Amino acid sequence: MNNLPQHVSIIMDGNGRWAKARGKERVYGHMEGAESVRACLEYAVEIGLPYLSLYAFSEENWNRPPVEVNALMALMLKFIRQEFSNLMEHRVRFMALGNRRRLSKEVNAAIDDLMEASAGNQGTTLIVFLSYSGQWDVLQAMKKAAAELSPEAFQAMEAKDFSGYLVTAGIPDPDLLIRTSGELRISNYLLWQCAYSEFYFTDVLWPDFRRPQFQEALDAYANRDRRYGKVK
Ligand code: FPP
Repeated sequence: MNNLPQHVSIIMDGNGRWAKARGKERVYGHMEGAESVRACLEYAVEIGLPYLSLYAFSEENWNRPPVEVNALMALMLKFIRQEFSNLMEHRVRFMALGNRRRLSKEVNAAIDDLMEASAGNQGTTLIVFLSYSGQWDVLQAMKKAAAELSPEAFQAMEAKDFSGYLVTAGIPDPDLLIRTSGELRISNYLLWQCAYSEFYFTDVLWPDFRRPQFQEALDAYANRDRRYGKVK
């Protein structure tokens, strides 16, 4: 594929509206959304995309009704359990990043098992951002750096050094950020890491975002002219 990005990140939005339009509960939209996750991951593996990351649950999402929070956590658990052998077979490396302390023991244990088992896999890296927010990430990075570094080293820190304290340390910044459902916001996602990302917004709701829609986004990216603030 021409001009394939290294890292595509997706803000999966519109599950609730998708369900409402069909007269169903919001949870039904999340279930269909999980099918889109499968479809997009399958496509990413097929084309050899090095990194696919997904905003699955924000720090702000904890404020949703408990029944929805529980359903989302249950979906996450189900995905990990059901897809475990499939991910291993396709050499997918799995990572869950975010404020892991807020997740249940059960969810954390399932994440740890899959992260450990898949750590050596050489295929696509699938990153699920769970209980994540960009401001939380920047703050925890700043606190970690302040605790580890001497005041002199802290003052001398440069952007590339600071990146090493974020939960995404070692992971390339997203080349392409996709947001579905017509919302034109970054919503406290990868604030630092998206400094030079190309943004792609589509009106398609996440449960309808499958292989053809993903391909369309990649085609749009392939035609972008990235200058990083320089003159070409
Ligand atoms: C946003 O739609 C979507 C979410 C908050 C959850 C995304 C979760 C999944 C797709 C489920 C499974 C994930 C994995 C990785 C297996 P919304 O509910 O905010 O939609 P709305 O804006 O229409 O209400």
